[in-house]
Amino acid sequence: MTSRRFQLQGQGPAAYERYLVPAQFAACAAQLLDLAAVRPGERVLDVACGTGIVARQAAARVGPGGAVAGTDLNQGMLEVARAAAADLPVEIAWHQADAAALPLPGGAFDLACCQQGLQYLPDRPAALAETRRVLVPGGRVALAVWRPIDHQPVYAAFARALRRHADEETAAIMHAPFAGPGRDELHRLLVDAGFDKVQVRIATVAARFPSPGELLRRQAASSPLAAPLAALAPEAWRALAGDLDQDLAGWVDDDDLAFPLQTRLAAAHAAPR
Ligand SMILES: C[S@@+](CC[C@H](N)C(=O)[O-])C[C@H]1O[C@@H](n2cnc3c(N)ncnc32)[C@H](O)[C@@H]1O
Repeated sequence: MTSRRFQLQGQGPAAYERYLVPAQFAACAAQLLDLAAVRPGERVLDVACGTGIVARQAAARVGPGGAVAGTDLNQGMLEVARAAAADLPVEIAWHQADAAALPLPGGAFDLACCQQGLQYLPDRPAALAETRRVLVPGGRVALAVWRPIDHQPVYAAFARALRRHADEETAAIMHAPFAGPGRDELHRLLVDAGFDKVQVRIATVAARFPSPGELLRRQAASSPLAAPLAALAPEAWRALAGDLDQDLAGWVDDDDLAFPLQTRLAAAHAAPR
């Protein structure tokens, strides 16, 4: 179950920052912060921040007059986040915490973001209530949650290949990022947590990896697939890599494996109490 909660160990957080952040999470963060309309001087919280890409981009936008904090359950992710942000002009405060119990005072932030984290939280209502608590009256929340795997052609093909060459449990790990709340559920969760003016929109993130083989190697280094793929027999790995080369050939351009990832972005305001 830990694998379904996106808990990386060992070199996983460093590999996540090196491979997955530039390939797909950095572009998503820019769209999320655009939707949230972050302004100079604001105080921004990044919940389930991972290695902190949203927090770093927010720091660049709020400038030295603003403040940024990031929270995550995973200490390894936070260590990489701290190192990656070391040279920024705005110091980011990092806190190890479950999203449902933030060690932060109420009314401390103008904006709270959670990028591709909500799908892993066991108690989403509690996490959003905590998010609401730490916002000033009228503060904003901005969430990003991948759409279901049927809308993600490359990862759907990857999951099918995992089912053929690994097992159901490994394929299920590939489904987990895409099993988050949909549009109606996002509206309901946000309203129930005390937000109004909810706006949910679909956005497309352009993902790039050097090749289908590198997509496999990089996911095996940087995601909860690490343990099951490390246990795969060499012939099963070769068959998996061969199928991905073949099944993803249509997404290879002159440079890279290039494909769309669809996400929902949700923005809302903390309603008056
Ligand atoms: C896919 S990563 C996204 C990280 C980051 N927001 C990004 O966009 O790169 C999901 C993150 O959720 C964190 N996470 C999972 N369960 C959590 C919980 N209960 N409370 C806080 N963070 C959690 C994981 O540790 C992981 O860093």
